[in-house]
Amino acid sequence: MIENFSDHNIFHTQLFREFKIQNMLEFGLGQATEQFLREVPKVTSLEIYTDDKKAEETLKISGPQWAEKFKKEFNNPDWRVIMVRAGVGIMHAEYQVTGHSTSPRGANPEATAYLKEIDDIVASLTEPYDYVFVDAGIHLRGDIVNALFQRFPIIGAHDTNDRQIYGYERVKVPSNYQERRHLSGCGVTFWIKKHEVSSH
Ligand SMILES: C[S@@+](CC[C@H](N)C(=O)[O-])C[C@H]1O[C@@H](n2cnc3c(N)ncnc32)[C@H](O)[C@@H]1O
Repeated sequence: MIENFSDHNIFHTQLFREFKIQNMLEFGLGQATEQFLREVPKVTSLEIYTDDKKAEETLKISGPQWAEKFKKEFNNPDWRVIMVRAGVGIMHAEYQVTGHSTSPRGANPEATAYLKEIDDIVASLTEPYDYVFVDAGIHLRGDIVNALFQRFPIIGAHDTNDRQIYGYERVKVPSNYQERRHLSGCGVTFWIKKHEVSSH
């Protein structure tokens, strides 16, 4: 089977029709960033990367060259790229959840240091993004989603059909968010803050 890495596009077009998204941030840039640049006035891409070549190959986390390639390709003044080097806690957790330490692939991380690092990354986002999308190269996506709740009104994530490897089983949906799951392809889920977000 050929995986369609951008099978979230159609759900995003629908989301942007329904809600006024003027300023968005994505965790993990790639080919689909082009769609966001076409459909959303202001886009920020945040790339969590590693300088460690060996870890890059083993864990399939991007090195700095991944973002550089797209920076050359998408020359857009309304696009900003934030580069964040993965901390020790994140790297340790990545080795664990991908089965490159003593735990089996898909296990929950044992140490919790990575949670503080993720929270620090999210807390450093000072712009009031209307929408934040999680499609990061790191596998700790469920934890990123948890850190985004109460900080941003609409949150989305890709590959949500694969609940274990990306930690989506750890997502705790607060009662003031409505969850919308789309199951086709790799799966896309949106969490929409009740009462605060209105349609066009
Ligand atoms: C899964 S891709 C998706 C990006 C975008 N949302 C899309 O749908 O096109 C997200 C992340 O995976 C990692 N990634 C994917 N393919 C890669 C590659 N060939 N080399 C390095 N990193 C890669 C990068 O960290 C990237 O930010």
